[in-house]
Amino acid sequence: MMEQQVSSILIRYQADPGSIIAILQDVQEEFSYLPPPALKMISKELALPLSRVLSLATFYKAFSLTPKGKHPVHVCLGTACHVRGAQLVLEKFERDLGLKTGETSADRNFSLDAVRCVGCCGLAPVVMVGEDVHGKVSPAKIAGLINKYKK
Ligand code: FES
Repeated sequence: MMEQQVSSILIRYQADPGSIIAILQDVQEEFSYLPPPALKMISKELALPLSRVLSLATFYKAFSLTPKGKHPVHVCLGTACHVRGAQLVLEKFERDLGLKTGETSADRNFSLDAVRCVGCCGLAPVVMVGEDVHGKVSPAKIAGLINKYKK
């Protein structure tokens, strides 16, 4: 099953080693992380050393080697967000979700990560849940935000 999905991604890019980043992005999108067997398959099919594939997979923050939740929560800790209380927002998410930063819930519904500047500093502090951007987030708003995605 996974093999077929990775295979169709590789076919889409004609197994071009120059498309490695796009291939990794598509695999990440498909599985919400980069499963180790997929990385081995990519390495083999593109004739790239596994160490090269792994170094790209670990270099870019957008990639994850561990499964992420259906609703990945990214709390921005960039400077603008930090000075507006992002650390308190992150700590409240940790308490409310019962997760530490970097973890995924047992039901795979949520994962929690801290990121650096997501490019909307005017809305600081900013939280992204999947593709949704939430600005001016305060600890008081977090329970409601989580409930919205539980439904
Ligand atoms: S610092 Fe958070 S969006 Fe820029």
